[in-house]
Amino acid sequence: MNPWLAPLLALAVAASAAAGAEPVKFSDALYAKFQDARCLQCHQFNSRRSNGRAWTSHRTRYLCENCHKPALTGLLGGEWMAPPGEKMDYTGYSARETCELIKRNTPTGDKAEVLSHHLLTDSRVLWAIKSGMTPAGRRPTMPGGYDEWARDVRAWVADGMICD
Ligand code: HEC
Ligand code: HEC
Repeated sequence: MNPWLAPLLALAVAASAAAGAEPVKFSDALYAKFQDARCLQCHQFNSRRSNGRAWTSHRTRYLCENCHKPALTGLLGGEWMAPPGEKMDYTGYSARETCELIKRNTPTGDKAEVLSHHLLTDSRVLWAIKSGMTPAGRRPTMPGGYDEWARDVRAWVADGMICD
C-alpha cells in the first residue's frame, strides 16, 4: 500500500465517526414504517389477539381472490393472502421485538439477503406502498413512497440489521 494511504484512510474513518455516523437501527425509520396500516391490516388478518378480519368482517378464510381480484390488487393469482394465525402479528410490539420476530421468521439462508429481497420486492409489500387497492376502494399507501422505503431498508441491512 502507498505509505501515504493508510493515514489518509484512518483520517477518513475518524472524520465520519466525528460527523456522528452512528450505525442504522431498526427503530430509526423502519419501525415506524412497519406500523403503516396497510402492513398491519394484513398481518393482523388471522390474529385473534388483534381481532383481525378473519374474526370479524371476513368469515371466509379462503377464496380471497373472489373479491381481491388480481386485476384489482395488481398481484399475481395466489399472492393475495394473509400470514397464518398470530405468529406474524407484530401489533403492539416494540422495535426490538418486531425486528427479532421478522428475523426469526425468515427462512434459513443468508438473512440479510432473504429479508432485503422480501422487503424490497415482495408483491404484498409493494401493494402496501404503491397501490392500497381493496374491493371497497383505494386505501392510503405508505407515506414517503417506495424510494424512501428502499433507502431505509438498504441502510438498515448494510449496517448489520441491528435490532434496537
Ligand atoms: C396482503 C397481505 C400482506 C400485506 C399487505 C403485507 N404483508 Fe407481509 N407478509 C404477508 C404474508 C402472507 C407473509 C408470509 C409470506 C411467506 O411466507 O412467503 C408475509 C411476510 C412478511 C415478512 C417476513 C418475511 C420473511 O422473509 O419471512 C415481513 C418482514 C413482512 N411480511 C413485512 C411486511 C411489511 C413491512 C408490509 C407493509 C409494507 C407487509 N408485510 C405487507 C402478507 C402481507
Ligand atoms: C366477499 C369478498 C371478500 C373476500 C372473499 C375477502 N375479502 Fe378481504 N376485503 C373485502 C372488502 C370489501 C374489503 C374492504 C373492507 C374492509 O376493510 O374490511 C376487504 C379488506 C381486506 C383487508 C384490509 C385491507 C387494508 O389494508 O385495509 C385485508 C387485509 C383483506 N381484506 C384480506 C383478505 C384475505 C386474506 C382474504 C382471504 C382469506 C380476503 N380478504 C377475502 C372483501 C373480501
